[in-house]
Amino acid sequence: MTAGSADGHVVWPLVHHRGRLVPRDEATLPVGSIALRYGISVFEGIRLYRQDSGGVAPWLPRPHLDRLRHSCRLMGLDDECAADVPAIIDELVAVQGIDEDGYIRVAASAANSGGIDQAAVTALTVTITPSGRKRWLADQVGIRLGISAWQRPSDAVFPSAAKNISAYAGPRLALAQAKREGYDSCVLRTADGLISEAPTATVFLVEGERVVTPRLSDHVLPGVTRAWVLATASALGYEAVEDAVTEERLTAADEVFLCGTGIEFGPVHAVAGVPLPGRPSGPVTKALVDEYFAQVRGAAVPTGVDLGLPGRRS
Ligand SMILES: Cc1ncc(COP(=O)(O)O)c(C=O)c1O
Repeated sequence: MTAGSADGHVVWPLVHHRGRLVPRDEATLPVGSIALRYGISVFEGIRLYRQDSGGVAPWLPRPHLDRLRHSCRLMGLDDECAADVPAIIDELVAVQGIDEDGYIRVAASAANSGGIDQAAVTALTVTITPSGRKRWLADQVGIRLGISAWQRPSDAVFPSAAKNISAYAGPRLALAQAKREGYDSCVLRTADGLISEAPTATVFLVEGERVVTPRLSDHVLPGVTRAWVLATASALGYEAVEDAVTEERLTAADEVFLCGTGIEFGPVHAVAGVPLPGRPSGPVTKALVDEYFAQVRGAAVPTGVDLGLPGRRS
């Protein structure tokens, strides 16, 4: 089956929803569902990359599915659904003849209706959307990064490790405000005023030969790309550190970049209006980006990653 077109964008028309392949518009949840009433829906974004040897392959599916299981457990959803995802991805790719870079979204949602204390019935939805480089990488445009006054919720408010849709409501407001103020993106703070992360990406800074990112205890999502960067930076000979990051430390860094499944890498060229000396892309950012694209296309062996998730083994 070939790709269709909606609003001028190419789309692959079929999605997996509740056990069946259906047209995208038919993958719906009831307005009375707990997902829509209380925001109980966890998800993963997984990149699908064209391989140098032909075909496409999901990038680091295992840690993404480990995190999906962990999110399900935290939110009272059935984590067994994660086991079906690899075969569903294969089916969506095969049936639609997908042979280019894409973004896989896997959602486990509370699809039944009920009150706030009702146990969830879990519905699995998997979509694949064409997705190439964002302009930060494609055009080498540096991000103007703001430092938001908004906070990421502490774990006493909401578990940072749960990749649940409700956790994006506050960061969405922070991003809208940052854009009104002329920034391209922003980082939110911890309850203590430290730097936490961007609305949908991890922040890294480079200080000489050291690659630094906020600690998991600084209200960040245990990012797959974050874990990959920490491990790969070490393998490339840099010191990779999880540490408390202050506003001063971020603005004084040699290089700053955002990373994550959606953005891949976004080199930052100014923080809170202060230009960075490295500018996009400094040498360390560039070394990581080059290694990333060698690995995702199958030209180099993928770095092993450890998300640092607590709890049961998956
Ligand atoms: C809040 C948040 N932080 C960080 C990330 C980056 O995580 P990953 O590298 O696993 O995509 C994402 C993207 O999913 C995110 O939504």
